[in-house]
Amino acid sequence: MGEYSIVVLGGDGIGPEVTAEAVRVLQVVGERFGHTFIFKEALAGQSAIEAEGAPMSDETLALCAQSDAVLFGAVGTLDAGQANTLVKPESAILRLRKELALFTNLRPVRPFPALREASAIRPERLQGVDLVVVRELTGGLYFGKPSEIREDADGAVAVDTMIYTEAEIERVVRYACELARGRRRHVTSVDKANVLSCSRLWRRVAGRVSRDYPDVEVRHLLVDACAMELIRRPQQFDVIVTENMFGDILTDEACVLAGSIGLLPSASLGTRRTAHGQFGLYEPIHGTAPDIAGQGKANPLAAILSAALLLRHSLGLPAEAAAVERAVEEVIEQGYRTPDIAAPQDTPLSTQAMGKEIAQRVRR
Ligand code: NAD
Ligand code: IPM
Ligand code: MN
Repeated sequence: MGEYSIVVLGGDGIGPEVTAEAVRVLQVVGERFGHTFIFKEALAGQSAIEAEGAPMSDETLALCAQSDAVLFGAVGTLDAGQANTLVKPESAILRLRKELALFTNLRPVRPFPALREASAIRPERLQGVDLVVVRELTGGLYFGKPSEIREDADGAVAVDTMIYTEAEIERVVRYACELARGRRRHVTSVDKANVLSCSRLWRRVAGRVSRDYPDVEVRHLLVDACAMELIRRPQQFDVIVTENMFGDILTDEACVLAGSIGLLPSASLGTRRTAHGQFGLYEPIHGTAPDIAGQGKANPLAAILSAALLLRHSLGLPAEAAAVERAVEEVIEQGYRTPDIAAPQDTPLSTQAMGKEIAQRVRR
């Protein structure tokens, strides 16, 4: 029994719809196991720009920094092409990751057997797929300076900067090797060393770190080949470790294995310890889904599974985490489906109805 503080940042679009269901499930976890979860809600993204003048205010950032964990929905609007907006809602999540030093992002992919038919990949190729992408989260192209569009004599010119230090690479590769020790002891380090300097350093550092883990097999794979192999033979992967942007892209691709982007959770971790575990931020890997926002069509399972990761990593409550994961599995096995994973003969559930099905099973 304990008391835990969780900041909830629903964000934009379907973000608040799915975090509401994750909170519903956490509340039931609290009741059943006798814990007190103190939820503090705050704004992030477009809603924060409108109400507070910034996508991530200093106050909200401080609130997160003082909590045991952050449950995040999604931020962003559809205007990514309007290149000159300086204040982007997406910078809310980037600021949180950077300023809270959450450099390790875990994105587990373990397709549910009962959902094999929902995937675009042949069922036999999904048999036994169980991989986790360890994405570097606070470096690379996302944060390198300069990053701007400027006017030159010849017209507009854009620049982004990919930059990595040895230390940034080492800590995340080390995390991946440690993680592999508790799994199948296999790490695939993904880079583009045939073209990029950052990747050549990545490969050199990964090679050096791997010598400290003689019991773990570490291999190197180019990112384009990895994109193909993920679809062709996903069973070969155990732990994949890669830089920020490659990890972003490969994990949306990996959603196809699971059957929907609405199913994949994530945990972002740094080094800060709390009284109960490791401080972290937990979010589904999907975005704000403007095409279905406000219609009760969003799949809340990625957010609910993110809450399970929160229980395990930040609150030190593995039995509670497992209870949530079991409830999700049961609901899927019993045929409950949101529209994104429904077959033509299914009657799809709303976001809320799905959340309630999970909560009910956690309560028992
Ligand atoms: P998206 O993930 O929002 O949507 C892609 C597709 O997947 C859409 O068809 C959407 O309807 C569907 N989808 C996404 N989540 C779903 C769910 N839970 N259930 C059912 N279907 C779901 O990606 P996008 O359309 O490229 O981006 C929209 C906005 O979200 C952009 O502004 C982008 O920057 C932002 N975004 C934010 C985050 C984040 O906050 N962590 C992550 C990704 C994208
Ligand atoms: C994700 C998202 C974010 C990213 C965006 C919203 C900044 O796509 O978490 O995968 O690119 O990291
Ligand atoms: Mn992404």
